[in-house]
Amino acid sequence: MKKLAASLAAATMFAFSSSYATAQSYPTQPITIVVPFAAGGPTDTVTRLIAQAMSQDLGQQVVVENVGGAGGTLGAARVAQAENDGYTLLLHHIGMATTTILYRDLPYNVMEDFEYVGLVTEVPMTLVARADLEAENLQQVIDYVRENGEDVMYANAGIGAASHLCGLLFMDAIDTQMTTIPYQGTGPALTDLMGGQVDLMCDQTTNTTNQIRDGSIKAYAVTVSDRLDSLPDIPTGAEQGLEGFEVTIWHGLYAPAGTSDEIVARLTDSLKVALQDETVIERFADLGTAPSSQEDASPEALRAKLESEIELWRPIIEAAGEYAN
Ligand code: MLT
Repeated sequence: MKKLAASLAAATMFAFSSSYATAQSYPTQPITIVVPFAAGGPTDTVTRLIAQAMSQDLGQQVVVENVGGAGGTLGAARVAQAENDGYTLLLHHIGMATTTILYRDLPYNVMEDFEYVGLVTEVPMTLVARADLEAENLQQVIDYVRENGEDVMYANAGIGAASHLCGLLFMDAIDTQMTTIPYQGTGPALTDLMGGQVDLMCDQTTNTTNQIRDGSIKAYAVTVSDRLDSLPDIPTGAEQGLEGFEVTIWHGLYAPAGTSDEIVARLTDSLKVALQDETVIERFADLGTAPSSQEDASPEALRAKLESEIELWRPIIEAAGEYAN
């Protein structure tokens, strides 16, 4: 009996020491961050800046893999089912909360199938249109949409995406429905907007700022209460009489459930370093956003944000009564 106890103790000691050793030497190979939207879009832009800075801190390549589709749920499912060894992560946004309500049949549970690394940033949105739309201000856009209704093609990145939620808010605020054209992300949607294949979109400043500045698209409002330094000429919705047209897109970093506390702590530390990186701060500011605070770059802050946002959006979505499945 003594011999069995001794070997059990040895086995446990070995298991602990090897996971501890693994965590100590983490990372020993490249890390993949899954972006649940197409390349070239706002979530991709944010993730590539963070990945670059974390790569320098961790001493290993941090690469981005785009898994678009179904409002971001395909990419999230990919990470929920991935190895919990710290080498597959997810950078996702508000969609992590809203899809739990909009998709009544999700292949994962956001409160159980992920470890939380920390908040990353919170990005304002812009209401934008093709450059040749005959409207010079928000009221003229509203009149145009009310006159043309479902003939107006509104682009978004699928049910649950930020561009979907902002579209819901806008259509609810003006009490008029448009025809929604879904994409794998707002990266490709913006290309079609510049080409005039679609008419209108609400998208994050991290995707639209450069095109607004060079005039390849028109902008009518920013979805925050004060104008942005990065886009000083674009008025707020409230300035133009559209009260309540306010939404910002928070982003978080996640790992599969069961990833060790040591590895999650190492990732949280590295995220904190990345959010203080000069290039990240400069690029974020130029694109109308800012890094989350060091305090918010924590598992507790991300979990709290997720829980409060699910409660915030549930009544709005249930009132709209539009579900993905
Ligand atoms: C993207 O990266 O394409 C966007 O985040 C999509 C969206 O949520 O609108």
